[in-house]
Amino acid sequence: MTEKSLGSRSSTAEVLSGVDLTGKKIIVTGANTGIGFEAARAFAAAGADVILACRNLEKSNEAVARITERHPDTHPQGLALDLASVSSIRQFCKQIPFETIDVLVCNAGLVPTQYQETEDGIELCVGVCHFGHFVLCELLLDKILKSNDARVVMVSSESHRSPAQLDFDRFPLSKDTFSSMKAYGQAKLCNVLFANELQRRYGEQGLSACSLHPGALITTEIGRYSGVLGLLVRLFSPFTKNPDQGAATTVYCAARAAAEEIQGNYFSHCRNVGSSKEANNTGVAKRLWALSETFCASHGVTNQAKGT
Ligand SMILES: NC(=O)c1ccc[n+]([C@@H]2O[C@H](COP(=O)([O-])OP(=O)(O)OC[C@H]3O[C@@H](n4cnc5c(N)ncnc54)[C@H](OP(=O)(O)O)[C@@H]3O)[C@@H](O)[C@H]2O)c1
Repeated sequence: MTEKSLGSRSSTAEVLSGVDLTGKKIIVTGANTGIGFEAARAFAAAGADVILACRNLEKSNEAVARITERHPDTHPQGLALDLASVSSIRQFCKQIPFETIDVLVCNAGLVPTQYQETEDGIELCVGVCHFGHFVLCELLLDKILKSNDARVVMVSSESHRSPAQLDFDRFPLSKDTFSSMKAYGQAKLCNVLFANELQRRYGEQGLSACSLHPGALITTEIGRYSGVLGLLVRLFSPFTKNPDQGAATTVYCAARAAAEEIQGNYFSHCRNVGSSKEANNTGVAKRLWALSETFCASHGVTNQAKGT
């Protein structure tokens, strides 16, 4: 299939048709189910060395077994990564056997139904989707920047458009200000802001960063904590993307598109569609970055690319 014919119903196999990923080192977070699993499976089937980063080792091993059963010639690896815990993220990074990382896919996410905190005391949704992935990138940047086609792909959502602005007075949300959709919207807006700022800061060192919307109400486990969302996902499943189609834009950005095409851009249905005005606000992105660095510093996390 040509780039022009890829679209909302493209499968990962169509996106990667003719693409050989042999030798590529790829990490996918939240890879035991849904979009992350299908993306990891597609990368492995195309020859990549893939690490499935899942909340615990049992889930990682089970997902690896499902891939090797379907694609016996592949060799994915599973490692434990709980993005709600800085110590787990640190442990995960220490175990990575790669000297170079070509692609980091930050896919893990959740729609929360009630106020919960990460192990490090941050509202869970923003804590996992943004702060967890920020810490992970800080710790892996030196390995990522060694690649000659380094990519960071943030799986965001159209929900990044609401809230229209990142209200730093209520960020991250507290027990008193929490609402499920506000937390999710903030988290997904952070994903786009982070990708854009990564591109600005590390583009000259060869990094290509982008963000994307995988599709709406894809039939995954995303609705597992919310009765209403779970019901909507089930009701709409005949009309929406299946998980493999939901992974197509991720796979496109990570391994099919030219590096220049993805840099600082936001994709949907394998196309650059442009993100919200707020997501392109460099002042907001810098403030979020500074706040995230403060979080890292308070947990003794140092940027491995700068050594600071
Ligand atoms: N499905 C949709 O319609 C849709 C639409 C727009 C955007 N998205 C985005 O797509 C991404 C993937 O979602 P999905 O639909 O595939 O949902 P999913 O089936 O629920 O998968 C989410 C993945 O994230 C993992 N995760 C959650 N908390 C984690 C943590 N603390 N540490 C490590 N991993 C964690 C989950 O692990 P466990 O299984 O252990 O919980 C799971 O592997 C998310 O970022 C989501 O926001 C989805």
